[in-house]
Amino acid sequence: MKLQEKLRSGRFSVGVVGLGYVGLPLAVEYAKAGFPTVGIDVDTEKVKAVNLGRNYIDDVDDDDLRAVTSSRTLRAEAHYRSIPDLDVVFICVPTPFTEYKDPDIRYILDAARGIASGLRKGHVIILKSTTFPNTTEGYVLPILQERGLTVGRDYHLAFSPERIDPGNKLFTTRNTPVVVGGVTPTCTRMAALASGRVIEKVVTVSNPKVAEMEKLLENIFRSVNIALVNEMALLCDRMGGIDVWEVVEAAKTKPFGFMPFYPGPGIGGHCILIDPYYLSWAARKHDFQTNFITLAAETNENMPFYVKNMIYRVFSMTEVPLRNARILMLGVAFKRDVDDTRHSPALRVMELLLEDGIRNIRYNDPHVPQITVNGRTFRSSRLTPKLLSHTDCVVITTDHSSYDYGMIVRHAHRIIDTRNATRNVRGSKRHVHVLGSGKF
Ligand SMILES: NC(=O)c1ccc[n+]([C@@H]2O[C@H](COP(=O)([O-])OP(=O)(O)OC[C@H]3O[C@@H](n4cnc5c(N)ncnc54)[C@H](O)[C@@H]3O)[C@@H](O)[C@H]2O)c1
Repeated sequence: MKLQEKLRSGRFSVGVVGLGYVGLPLAVEYAKAGFPTVGIDVDTEKVKAVNLGRNYIDDVDDDDLRAVTSSRTLRAEAHYRSIPDLDVVFICVPTPFTEYKDPDIRYILDAARGIASGLRKGHVIILKSTTFPNTTEGYVLPILQERGLTVGRDYHLAFSPERIDPGNKLFTTRNTPVVVGGVTPTCTRMAALASGRVIEKVVTVSNPKVAEMEKLLENIFRSVNIALVNEMALLCDRMGGIDVWEVVEAAKTKPFGFMPFYPGPGIGGHCILIDPYYLSWAARKHDFQTNFITLAAETNENMPFYVKNMIYRVFSMTEVPLRNARILMLGVAFKRDVDDTRHSPALRVMELLLEDGIRNIRYNDPHVPQITVNGRTFRSSRLTPKLLSHTDCVVITTDHSSYDYGMIVRHAHRIIDTRNATRNVRGSKRHVHVLGSGKF
C-alpha cells in the first residue's frame, strides 16, 4: 500500500524513540487508537517496565498502559532493529545543555543514527524534541541522507514540537494542537497526516526552522514573563507595602492584553530553563546577542539565591544559629503536582544551603520519595504536626495541591512561602513570610 493511503486509512505502524515524559504518553495514545506501536529506549529499565505494563509517568493512565501492553499493541525495545517494520517514527529524546549551557543534541544525533540504520522508502520521521532552529535540516537530515534515499520523495522528515504540559488534566496529547513543518511540502503533508490520526488539530508551517523557532518562542515567552514578575516581586519586597500577588490579581481583571504570570523560587523542568540557552547559542553564530532573553534567564536563575537570603534573614531575627537550623523544604518537584525534579529550584536552594554548611535539612514531597543533592541522598519525611513543630523554618518551594496548608501554618514556627500557597489560610500568619509580599 502506498504511504499516503496508509496514512489516510490509518493502517500504519508507529515507532517512538525515547519513552520519557513526552514519548510514553505519545506511544500510549497511538496504541490506544489501535496503531501497532514500538517504543525504543536505551534505558532498559523503562523498556522492561513498559513491557510489563508498569507505568512510571503520571500523565499516563495505569489501565491504559496495561491494556495496550497486554494486547501487545504497544511493546518496547532497547534497540533499533524494528525500524524497517515501522512507518512513522517520532523522536522524543532529551535535549539538555552542557555544563557551560551550550546545547547538547547528542541524543538526537544518536537517535537519528539508530533510525538511519533501518531507513527505507516510505518512512515518515518526525523530530519532537525541543531544539534550536536548523537542527532538523542541518543535523538530522545529513545523517539520514547517508542512506542514499531522497527526502520528500523516498522518505519524509519533519519537525513537530511537543507541547505536553505534565500534570495538566485539561490539555493532553490528544487535544493540544501541534505544529508541523516538513523539509519539503510533501514531508509536511505526510507528517501532518500521521499526527492528525491521534491529535485533534494539526497546524502546518512552511519549514522545520519555523516550527523549531515557534517552540522556542512559546517557552521563552514564559521565561521572559516569569522573569518580569519575579523582578516585580523583588521590587515589591524592596519598596515594602506592595504585595506583588495582589498586584497580579488586580492586573488580571483587565479582560484583554494581559496574561497573569506568578513569581516563585525560580524555574525548572526540562524546558523553560534550558530553551533560552539553545536560542542564544544559535544566535551567536549570527553575531546576534539575545540580551533580553538572556537577562530573563539570569533573573530567574537568581531567584534561588534570593530564597536563600530570605531564609538567612528569617534566622537573623531569631536566636537560632543558622548552622544548626532545622530546615524543612516542602515540595521539590519543579512545579505543582508533578514528580519531575529536573533543574528544580527547590534543589538549587538545597544545594546553596548545603554549600554554606547548613546540613540539617529535610524535605517532603508527596510525588518524590527520594532525591540526591550534592551527592547526599534524602528521603521524603512524613509531613506531620510533630515534624513541623520540630523544624525551625519551613520553606514552601512547590505548592502541591495535596498539602494541608492550614495544618502547615498552624504547626510551623516560621514559614517562607515562595508560592503564596498559604493565601487562603485563616488565622494568625505573622510567622509566614511570603516572597514578594512587600512585608519582608
Ligand atoms: N517533559 C516535558 O514536559 C516536555 C514538554 C515539551 C517538550 N519536551 C521536550 O521533549 C524532549 C524529551 O523530553 P522528556 O521530558 O520526555 O525527556 P525524558 O528524559 O523524560 O525522556 C527521554 C527518553 O529518551 C531516552 N533516550 C535517550 N537517548 C536515546 C536514544 N539514543 N535512543 C532511544 N532512547 C533514548 C531516555 O532514556 C529517556 O527515557 C526534550 O527535548 C524536551 O525539551 C519536554
